[in-house]
Amino acid sequence: MDLTNKIAIVTGGATGIGRAISLNLASLGATVVINYHSSSQKAENLVEEIKSMGKEAFCMKANVANFSEAKNLIDTTIDKYGKVDILVNNAGITMDTLILRMKEEEFDKVIDVNLKGTWNCCKHVSKQMSKQRAGKIINISSIVGIIGNVGQTNYCASKAGVIGLTKSLARELAKRNVCVNVVAPGFIETKMTENLSDNIKNEYIRNIPLGRLGQPEDIANLVAFLSSHLSNYITGQVINCDGGIVMY
Ligand SMILES: NC(=O)c1ccc[n+]([C@@H]2O[C@H](COP(=O)([O-])OP(=O)(O)OC[C@H]3O[C@@H](n4cnc5c(N)ncnc54)[C@H](OP(=O)(O)O)[C@@H]3O)[C@@H](O)[C@H]2O)c1
Repeated sequence: MDLTNKIAIVTGGATGIGRAISLNLASLGATVVINYHSSSQKAENLVEEIKSMGKEAFCMKANVANFSEAKNLIDTTIDKYGKVDILVNNAGITMDTLILRMKEEEFDKVIDVNLKGTWNCCKHVSKQMSKQRAGKIINISSIVGIIGNVGQTNYCASKAGVIGLTKSLARELAKRNVCVNVVAPGFIETKMTENLSDNIKNEYIRNIPLGRLGQPEDIANLVAFLSSHLSNYITGQVINCDGGIVMY
């Protein structure tokens, strides 16, 4: 795979899965715009790491849930590099609890970042990619957006929403040669999952056919494929990367 001369934006690109995606796209030759919200030091360190590989990267703070900040992220990238070839909507949060205890703000916040944030970035990049008549949008959902999960009514609703958004946008942009797909990770070892007890983790592993938790690099490899010309005939798809938990 060769992404030389491609310009990629990765939201939440400084930590966890986003970090692995940023590093992978850069190692394949892309210039990467690393969006962060609170992890400024991690973002700056990652830019240095990518530059030390002889590649180009740039980091930018933006709350993707905010319409104007998301617009500014996309517009700044276009001003600086003249185009956007790849957008990875990876930023996401959880605020887990049973619905009986969940506060309205906990529902709204998760929907705002995970679903509205994805829509905001898709909305602002669509004009540019349509004009280019080329582009790849990869939205990070989750297998729980397909199968549901106890304690995650807000998160699962947001991730299911990302799937509907993606399929609709894939239909809207297909004539402009823009591919829009979902990657649905299973259980991946990151900050988001580090607080789960060993008992719960072992229970998950028992239910994973491949017998291990996923690593951020597992997701980054699939995102790289969907960012490259090798996936030019794939759009509107939900591709699970979960060790086989969900099989249709
Ligand atoms: N880990 C898993 O098992 C798993 C499974 C399925 C799906 N996913 C999805 O994978 C994605 C990455 O998660 P992760 O596991 O790598 O967790 P993570 O390390 O907590 O990463 C989440 C990222 O989202 C960013 N973010 C949060 N709110 C934001 C906002 N308002 N604006 C911009 N960026 C924001 C964070 O940036 P800052 O640190 O700068 O605030 C952080 O880089 C998420 O969409 C998550 O739902 C994860």
